Amino acid sequence: MNVPARSTEVAPIRLLVVEDSELDFDLLTAMLVREGMPLRAERVEDEAGMREAFARGPVDAVLTDHNMPRFDSFAALKLAKAADPDLPVLVVSGEMSEDLAVAALHAGADDFILKSRLFRAGPALARSLQAAAQRRAGRAAAAALTESEERLRQLTKHLESAKEDERRRIASEIHDEIGAMLTALRFETVALARQLQQQRVDAPRVRRMLDLIGELVGASHRIQHNLRPPVLDAGLVEALQWLVASFAERTGVQASFETNREDAPLGADTSAALYRVAQEALANVSKHAHAKRVTVQLFASDHEVSLEISDDGVGFDPQLLRTSPGFGLRVLMERARGLGGWAEVSSAPNRGMTLMFSVPASRTA
Ligand SMILES: Nc1ncnc2c1ncn2[C@@H]1O[C@H](COP(=O)(O)OP(=O)(O)O)[C@@H](O)[C@H]1O
Ligand SMILES: [Mg+2]
Repeated sequence: MNVPARSTEVAPIRLLVVEDSELDFDLLTAMLVREGMPLRAERVEDEAGMREAFARGPVDAVLTDHNMPRFDSFAALKLAKAADPDLPVLVVSGEMSEDLAVAALHAGADDFILKSRLFRAGPALARSLQAAAQRRAGRAAAAALTESEERLRQLTKHLESAKEDERRRIASEIHDEIGAMLTALRFETVALARQLQQQRVDAPRVRRMLDLIGELVGASHRIQHNLRPPVLDAGLVEALQWLVASFAERTGVQASFETNREDAPLGADTSAALYRVAQEALANVSKHAHAKRVTVQLFASDHEVSLEISDDGVGFDPQLLRTSPGFGLRVLMERARGLGGWAEVSSAPNRGMTLMFSVPASRTA
């Protein structure tokens, strides 16, 4: 039966009424129309009828009688919620039993209405439709958020690997082009120094040139090291040892490295990520911390690898990270999530700072 809508602007509510009595159905729909609800209501009385109605198109709400000759409200409720978990279902019953009402609500009914109090049906239906719309909107928002987080994760991962590729390319260009020329230059200069020595000419400038070439070779190695973590060749532990030692030498900050395992079970990308994290954290210590001491610790179990970098510097309020223009720590948090792990900053003004970065050990992708 189609009940004409009072308002032509609002799309009618498609209402499925599970009810064996034609008379009760008419009473119910008349009551709802009197409330001003634009309806398209249809009556079914069993499971087959419900299934057919769902197959014909989306239903906005179900009102079900409790006790019917071939069906009952619990079965109707189950069927409706299986079709759409957000679908509002209201149980309409001739019986007045608190147990029944509680059971219906527990089974997922949105409301329970007595046939003797049908005037409640309109407001209850309106409220349930609104609640369902909110549930759907919440679900859609959560799904959209999950999707955009996933996209951000993919993007970060892509950027990270693009960055590593680019660094590797620059490192090998420095190695092949500049490295080869430096070797040749040193060779020629050593030969020149020998020649001058044989002619007993004292040439302090040539000695100075040799020193400079030595420094240049050292600088070029350092740059290559930074661009392409030696971790890929020598293993993470050695790479971190080298990183921490050269940090101490360069900055004068007392720096130590400890680990519980020499052979952390790690994939190449996880090792590279941990190395980059230590690099960023140490860069932050030299840029921001004014620290005297910093410790880097690597703890590895079969399941998890954690890196902890702790300094005794000026610290900061981690709340400020939300508005900080820097990207170092932000990228680091994303990197942890991208690898299925987590990262945490704990700090307070004048309390130093500790960064924890933890990822599953088995990731080799
Ligand atoms: N070890 C540290 N000690 C004190 N402050 C720090 C430390 N590490 C980070 N910070 C603070 O957190 C901010 C954000 O760091 P980061 O995201 O790496 O960005 P950036 O280093 O480019 O400023 C820094 O600007 C600094 O204020
Ligand atoms: Mg930084």
